[in-house]
Amino acid sequence: MSSKIIRNYLPELLAQGFLRSKPSMVTVNLTNKCNQYCIYCEIGNGIELSGGKLLTTDDLHWIIDQMAINKIRKISLCGGEPFLFKDLIEIVAYAGTRRVWCSITTNGMTAHQLSESDLTTLKECKSEINISIDSFQESIQSHTRGTPAALPNALKSIQKLSEKEIPVTLLTAVSKFNYHNLYNFFTVAYEMGVQQVLFQPIIYHSNYPERPAIDNKSQLNVSIDELDKLMSELKKILRFERSHLISTNVYRLLPWIHYYLMNIASQNGNWFFHDVLKKFYCRDLYAIIDISYYGGIQPCGLANANITIHENRHLGLLKLWSEATSGIRNDLRNDRYHVYCNSCCHHFSRNMLASIMKYPLQNRDLLIKMAYLLGLRIYSKIWKRLFKRN
Ligand SMILES: C[S@@+](CC[C@H](N)C(=O)[O-])C[C@H]1O[C@@H](n2cnc3c(N)ncnc32)[C@H](O)[C@@H]1O
Ligand code: SF4
Ligand code: SF4
Repeated sequence: MSSKIIRNYLPELLAQGFLRSKPSMVTVNLTNKCNQYCIYCEIGNGIELSGGKLLTTDDLHWIIDQMAINKIRKISLCGGEPFLFKDLIEIVAYAGTRRVWCSITTNGMTAHQLSESDLTTLKECKSEINISIDSFQESIQSHTRGTPAALPNALKSIQKLSEKEIPVTLLTAVSKFNYHNLYNFFTVAYEMGVQQVLFQPIIYHSNYPERPAIDNKSQLNVSIDELDKLMSELKKILRFERSHLISTNVYRLLPWIHYYLMNIASQNGNWFFHDVLKKFYCRDLYAIIDISYYGGIQPCGLANANITIHENRHLGLLKLWSEATSGIRNDLRNDRYHVYCNSCCHHFSRNMLASIMKYPLQNRDLLIKMAYLLGLRIYSKIWKRLFKRN
């Protein structure tokens, strides 16, 4: 916990207090190819309109070099399915030589086929792997991930990576198909030795802004009739987490997930984050550089890119990013939100914490609630360290 506070919360507090001087990470969608057919993803649904020049290994080297020059130490590799980018392991190794650490988000379909030397590279370069699993019940996982091969492959990948002691986090999209089974899922993950599970509701605008969203996507979310059941599952998970060696993001979800789902149900045109916070601050626009598989520098993960890394490279990544984000930063400073902001749940917890740090007086009610939840979390972490060490 103390290392997490030093790595995450302190720099964040300093960034809010003394103005952030540079982004904390870069996220790159390496490819638009995939080998699953997830019901909540535009790639899985085969929705594609525009084309473009896809990222190459040279582009990735340039991005990593720019990160090294600017001392940005973390890159998140996503997609599509990142293991379908043929030079993925070479990229991880190259990043390692430039002191840039990779986190890879994968569906786990092929990671179990990695060679011994690939696994060694991932380990030596301190890579973190996120594997997306919605359920350990075959019928649910096959339905949400669109293939019966999803669960067996993901399980084999978890095992292979764990044998090599490469940290694995599970990412779980919470939908109307798995909400009732989350606690059970979580305890099975614990039995398997997984150390972290992160839950998130369904983003209902397009995950890839150049593609139109899946029809009726918001209805994949848990309906408000089932909200009590969902909240009860999450609270059971939190109680279990407090006395077992596994962690989640549930303490950060509890203050806002019901507002998110109620906003979807009501369609009243309000911004859901105003039900959570008096004053909202979008940290993402200042902290994360989002790069699409076409090399577009997206103002944020849900916004379309107008600037790419293919032109005007001589300006450098930070300057290009600053140009790419200036319009939307100005919009949000003047409370002009964009329609997709209401579906921005994947980074909302971080934006919520940043809003509290930036505007503690205006957001004092939530500050008190979060201080209580964080206090309990620190207490349980210390208790687990003292009494639950293997
Ligand atoms: C877009 S995927 C890309 C990486 C990889 N293909 C995978 O599935 O892990 C990244 C994460 O977003 C999640 N995801 C995809 N569409 C989503 C949506 N509409 N709402 C919430 N999460 C979503 C996936 O389950 C996965 O955990
Ligand atoms: S969520 Fe990931 S695995 Fe599923 S279709 Fe989208 S890119 Fe592929
Ligand atoms: S969708 Fe809106 S709130 Fe979310 S990161 Fe983008 S600008 Fe910020």
